[in-house]
Amino acid sequence: MSNPNSNPSQLKTLLSGYQSRVEKSLNHWLPAPQLAPQRLHEAMRYSALDGGKRVRPFLVYATGRALGATLEQLDGPASAVELIHVYSLIHDDLPAMDNDDLRRGKPTNHKAFGEAMAILAGDAIQSLAFHILAHDETIDISAERRLKMVNTLAHASGSRGMCGGQAIDLEAVGQQLDLPALENMHIHKTGALIRASVTLGALCHAGSSEAQCKQLDHYAKCIGLAFQIQDDILDIEGDTATLGKPQGSDIARDKPTYPALLGLDGAKQRAQELYNEALNSLADFDHHADPLRWMAEYIVSRNQ
Ligand code: IPE
Ligand code: IPE
Ligand code: MG
Ligand code: MG
Ligand code: MG
Repeated sequence: MSNPNSNPSQLKTLLSGYQSRVEKSLNHWLPAPQLAPQRLHEAMRYSALDGGKRVRPFLVYATGRALGATLEQLDGPASAVELIHVYSLIHDDLPAMDNDDLRRGKPTNHKAFGEAMAILAGDAIQSLAFHILAHDETIDISAERRLKMVNTLAHASGSRGMCGGQAIDLEAVGQQLDLPALENMHIHKTGALIRASVTLGALCHAGSSEAQCKQLDHYAKCIGLAFQIQDDILDIEGDTATLGKPQGSDIARDKPTYPALLGLDGAKQRAQELYNEALNSLADFDHHADPLRWMAEYIVSRNQ
């Protein structure tokens, strides 16, 4: 990896700071476990709190900060996109989908709460994400921008975004996809929310120019695809304890993945190309965008 701005220790500190921030915000927005219906609220909190790398919140914070937004402004959007991600994981693990038992180092939501409650927890977590964007008074922006935020997240989550990608994934099981079809699946099922994270961060700052937004969006597209390629690589090369989810799940289910199509070396090479392209997209940004550069590197080199 040849990024001159690379600094893993600074990334670690920043990531853990943003993880604590978003944890606090999520805890604030999630209904208290004592509140009825208690079991549903417990199930929601079980999956949303205390776990995950929080890459998407990091991207909201880092993008917003690169452009000059305040951290307080970014808490709501960071929480909203993480909640959509959490809901997507709960449903992704269900028996009707990937049928996995382990997530973020603990039993999957349906293993802990039963299938019906897990479905409802996912549904309610999704609604909460939009409630935050519509309701959070700390997001001090025009109503027009706020509406853009809601629309950005809705589009990225729906049939033309994450859900659409998941549908392609399910239909493609056991089939040999060609590279454009595989990339299309990955861009939707994982790339869309990563892209939305960057857009949400940018929308928090009224002063961002169209050119800056375009460059950031290209960065986000590249790292979004690279993120899922690395996820596919880790399904082969990772270990269950570090991943906190079952290694080998894709092969067991004959999933179409990057390594299945290009081999491990081919997949790694493609991730590296996307990393380079992501950095090039940020060429016009100064050191305030360094955290975005560090995150791009982390995405293709992570082991969990
Ligand atoms: C896993 O996402 C699912 C994919 C979209 C590939 P993450 O690797 O971000 O999972 P957490 O949030 O850290 O658990
Ligand atoms: C999941 O992709 C993408 C979404 C949850 C939208 P995977 O099925 O590969 O994710 P993991 O490996 O279970 O985390
Ligand atoms: Mg899946
Ligand atoms: Mg899965
Ligand atoms: Mg996976």
